[in-house]
Amino acid sequence: MRADPAACLGAGPSLYSPPVDLTAYRERFPILDGTVYLINHSLGAMPAAAEDRVLEYARVWKTRGIRAWAEGWWTMPLTVGDQIARLIGARPGSVTMHQNVTIAEAIVLSCFQLDGDRRRVVYEQDNFPTVRYIYQAQVDRGVEIVAVPEGESLVEAIDERTLLVPTQHVLYKTGEIQDVEAIVRRAHQVGAYVVLDAYQSVGTVPLEVTELEVDFAVGGSVKWLCGGPGAAWLYVRPDLAEGLRPSLVGWQAHARPFAFEPELEYAEGAARFLTGTPNVPALYAATAGYDLIEEVGVARIRENSMHQTQLLTDLLRLKGFDVTSPLDSKRRGGTVTVRTPGFEGVHRELAERGILCDFRPDSGLRLGSHYFNTDEELVYAVEEIGAIVESGAYERHLGAAASF
Ligand SMILES: Cc1ncc(COP(=O)(O)O)c(C=O)c1O
Repeated sequence: MRADPAACLGAGPSLYSPPVDLTAYRERFPILDGTVYLINHSLGAMPAAAEDRVLEYARVWKTRGIRAWAEGWWTMPLTVGDQIARLIGARPGSVTMHQNVTIAEAIVLSCFQLDGDRRRVVYEQDNFPTVRYIYQAQVDRGVEIVAVPEGESLVEAIDERTLLVPTQHVLYKTGEIQDVEAIVRRAHQVGAYVVLDAYQSVGTVPLEVTELEVDFAVGGSVKWLCGGPGAAWLYVRPDLAEGLRPSLVGWQAHARPFAFEPELEYAEGAARFLTGTPNVPALYAATAGYDLIEEVGVARIRENSMHQTQLLTDLLRLKGFDVTSPLDSKRRGGTVTVRTPGFEGVHRELAERGILCDFRPDSGLRLGSHYFNTDEELVYAVEEIGAIVESGAYERHLGAAASF
């Protein structure tokens, strides 16, 4: 790749020094051989080790059969949850694994009565659609929704009628980091609970749920954790958990599931938030990505990410494009968003050139580099974006709908 970041920024080499070099990890991700992979905010690159884990799952199923449940499969939603706990600053035994964020969020919602004085759900209008839909679908059951428009204060919209504040740590559309501390403070002042969707942060932006006193947190593995689909997580503040009785519940949540008792008795701790048979193959696959995040360390990943997102921002602005993600790297997660002419078409043309990213209708192209990307790849991608716009090569793809 011919790109030189220092030359492109107009800086001498001495002014250009990446803070940390994590490129040795590139060899762990086979897809990097053939693509410039800048879509880790959507589907993080697959670690080679994930393939071994899936084969291990098949081997255990083949050779251990039914015995596998007692040898680890049954408790995987808790043991894998403990690994997530380490990544989000939670105590062991406070995280359970589920199929997706939608289910995790539905379990939280099922813990509350929706017909009293306190039945307001307050969130930012640009909350991720699945989260919005699940609360909107409860309106006939009593939920009152307050969707706060962009630019207005979520904190100010939280009042004594608020039950839940389902909000994002990093906004999926623009990559902006929210002030979770202020949201939690206000929610607790008035007796409301915060449900933090950390899908767009965990794995690239540090999160400390215990320190932040977040009540509930949810996320998945598809993106920055590089864990693939089917392995989402739910954190519940331990002192809150014992008092909650989720109505979306299953036999894994019973105190004695193998007694097959006719009446429900909730398990202690986080296990009460479980449902039915766990998604075992997805949990095998996911841990390969988590292991790497633990090995590299989120602090180093964040340092590299702040550097790379700044590099992308500077290069895109030098080309005259409108960067819609925050310009201050402290307020920016792992994704840079940028509006270019015909960005839907630019995205398609980039894909044909082996540069993978995506776009969202309101915010433009989304570029999400991770710890294994090189600065040279970023320069190359920006050069290609510039060339595609200048030559009009995007025009033949115009009208493309947003997709993955
Ligand atoms: C912030 C956020 N929340 C939730 C989701 C997805 O939710 P689910 O796991 O239910 O598909 C995404 C993206 O897919 C997201 O970016």
